[in-house]
Amino acid sequence: EKSGYASFMLKEIAEQPKAVADTLLGRIDSSGLLTLDEVRIPVSVLREVDKVVIVACGTAYHSGMIAKYAIEHWTRIPCEMELASEFRYRDPILDARTLVVAVSQSGETMDTLMAVRHAREQGAHVLAICNTNGSTIPRESDAVLYTHAGPEVAVASTKAFLTQLVACYLVALYLGQVRGTKWGDEIGDVVRELSEISTQVEDVLDTMEPVRELARGLAGEAGMNTVLFLGRHVGYPVALEGALKLKELAYMHAEGFAAGELKHGPIALIEKGLPVVVVVPSPRGRSVLHGKIVSNIQEIRARGARTLVIAERGDTAVVPYADHLVEIPATPTLLQPLVATVPLQVFACELATARGNEVDQPRNLAKSVTVE
Ligand code: F6R
Repeated sequence: EKSGYASFMLKEIAEQPKAVADTLLGRIDSSGLLTLDEVRIPVSVLREVDKVVIVACGTAYHSGMIAKYAIEHWTRIPCEMELASEFRYRDPILDARTLVVAVSQSGETMDTLMAVRHAREQGAHVLAICNTNGSTIPRESDAVLYTHAGPEVAVASTKAFLTQLVACYLVALYLGQVRGTKWGDEIGDVVRELSEISTQVEDVLDTMEPVRELARGLAGEAGMNTVLFLGRHVGYPVALEGALKLKELAYMHAEGFAAGELKHGPIALIEKGLPVVVVVPSPRGRSVLHGKIVSNIQEIRARGARTLVIAERGDTAVVPYADHLVEIPATPTLLQPLVATVPLQVFACELATARGNEVDQPRNLAKSVTVE
């Protein structure tokens, strides 16, 4: 039941700190090592993996896009990410040294299931990341790492997405751990920071009133039908996810772009008053990324965009260019999607509600897509 929330979606957004904590539970031992024995692919096989291919659809695809950054950084194994619906009709090159990771909340998505079958026929090892016990995709995979989000009722995925991210990070870190990488120390630090993420998600949820107010304001503006989302690096899939949430819930034209692509076309869309959400990476860590995105914000603002900036608390460089600033807690760059996505979910949910849309059951959509 909705336990006092106006919608399942609001309830599920609020449940994210617990969902994240539950997905980590029992998977990190007291010395900070990952204990993923439940992944029944022998360590000897994981040590020989020379390529990872992630397949998924929709929101789950966005979690896989983020996983690619994490896997390649922490393990140095080449990683490809592909929409299950494309992968299954291609002629992908796979063998026994390929690890295929299939990400699915429901475990029943037809395209993802077919991709799993296609991969296994070619001898690849398949690991499912799934939220539904005993569903078809985990049953047909070699192994499964369950996300512990609990049942997700609202059609638009929120808490399942955050737990998919956690599971993807666990897989990336685990591969790094069993294979040994030059990032050994960093892996230990990240595992510790991952344990604190649930509190940080809670912190974000506690500071969402300005985002809701902004969403209600935009919902009431006549002719406001487009919102763009920009990000770089792991902020790029976050931008895509923010746009997808807004499309499916608010029925608005929303598009996510890699900020580096602006000059290759999208900047032509910028006109006076157009809301553009920008996901800003931490100014610490990969500071090159940060500098680039600050220039992007300046560029779009000079052309009249209204900038809605999501940035780390204390990031003073973005302040002069932010028409609206949403502050999120500091995290390592690769983990930022866990906190940066939450304001985008709240934004879409509030905007859709203000427009009178049914957020739990958006038009034309089904929770589980068991047909093509
Ligand atoms: C978007 C959404 C969908 C699903 C997609 C995959 O909010 O919920 O895009 O993410 O249909 O579904 P699963 O994860 O069940 O395979």
